[in-house]
Amino acid sequence: MATDPPMATKSRPASSPSSPKPTSRKTPWPFFTVLLTVLSPVLVATLVFQLDSLEQANLPIHELTRPPLKALKKNDHMLQGSELVGFKQLIGPEDIAYDSNSGVIYTSCADGWVKRVTINDSVADTIVEGWVNAGGRPLVLALGHDNEVIVGDAYKGLLKISGEGKVELLADEAEGVKFKLTDAVDIAEGGTIYFTDASYKYNVLEFFWDFLEGKPYGRAMSYDPVTKETRVLAHDLYFANGVAVSPDQQYVVFCETLMRRCRKYYIQGKKKGSLETFIDNLPGLPDNIHHDGHGHYYIALSSGITVALDLALKHPFLRKLMGIYTKYIGEINVVKNSGVFIVDLEGKPTEHYYDPSLALISSGIKIGNHIYCGSVVSPYIVRLDVTKHPARATV
Ligand SMILES: *[C@@H]1O[C@H](CO)[C@@H](O)[C@H](O)[C@H]1NC(C)=O
Repeated sequence: MATDPPMATKSRPASSPSSPKPTSRKTPWPFFTVLLTVLSPVLVATLVFQLDSLEQANLPIHELTRPPLKALKKNDHMLQGSELVGFKQLIGPEDIAYDSNSGVIYTSCADGWVKRVTINDSVADTIVEGWVNAGGRPLVLALGHDNEVIVGDAYKGLLKISGEGKVELLADEAEGVKFKLTDAVDIAEGGTIYFTDASYKYNVLEFFWDFLEGKPYGRAMSYDPVTKETRVLAHDLYFANGVAVSPDQQYVVFCETLMRRCRKYYIQGKKKGSLETFIDNLPGLPDNIHHDGHGHYYIALSSGITVALDLALKHPFLRKLMGIYTKYIGEINVVKNSGVFIVDLEGKPTEHYYDPSLALISSGIKIGNHIYCGSVVSPYIVRLDVTKHPARATV
């Protein structure tokens, strides 16, 4: 792919030698120079419009009016002192859910496996076992009330895996539109499942193109296990990502990755059915969000804000150039400073754990003294003992 990219051809016209003959009468514009002079803008334009299918739009980034939020406390080198759980036994464990009764973490892996990780004070004594392989790309999961595990599978949609390991498809479309990238799931006390489809246009391997387009192809939804009905709660989301039901069961929070914000959708009470901002101006791109059971949400930030990322989010043309580069030359790495951003129930930031070398952390939860982080690309779960390596006051 990278050899002889079409981009190289566009420099040829400019350097084309036009060596006029000394004997030439009038202006010596050889035919080929004229042709190439005319053609070179056409070539460039062709290259740019190669990406015509990219229906680009301006992100409403002006809605982010403040500088990125800062937490009161941070640990900006969380890899120092952290441990790798299940090293090389887990492939891209994007999401993690903990069953405190059995001391087991369920995690969704890139090879189709939902794996069980029996954690231990000693990382070396961690036990990793394959539990169920449903064949797709399980991205996210939540533990149900009857030993079932609800899985958001990037290709298949919303799945239920019974305690015995039987796989059942719950939903793969809503309002006649198929899911392309089921991307988060949580379960309310009453059993209703809340989940998102990040994009109905791009799949999990193409998510970068969703970012480059900057259009709202995401939806937040609910699934009622009794009526088997899927309802769309919010349309037109900019990469709908993590979902968490609030501990008081009044609302669900869901993340909108490209807009660096999380929103609340009320499921009960006077505001039922309404949508409002939970937190915006996040210092990175939010992925999954989990409540820790003690009044805090753990928002995984797949990347911190980098200059390149910031500019790209603001300027569609820059995203188009990134698209051309990606298509003809190779992947662009714009992510760093990934980690977990912790906020209270009001959305006030309290702690931020991250590391310059961390990329694409996709989930974070607290178990005992440790923060455990899943990552969509790493061959392990990262854990950090926060009593030994706490976040410290930033000022
Ligand atoms: C940790 O692993 C050791 C060695 O297998 C075992 O004896 C111990 O019970 C485990 N601890 C916990 C809390 O599971």
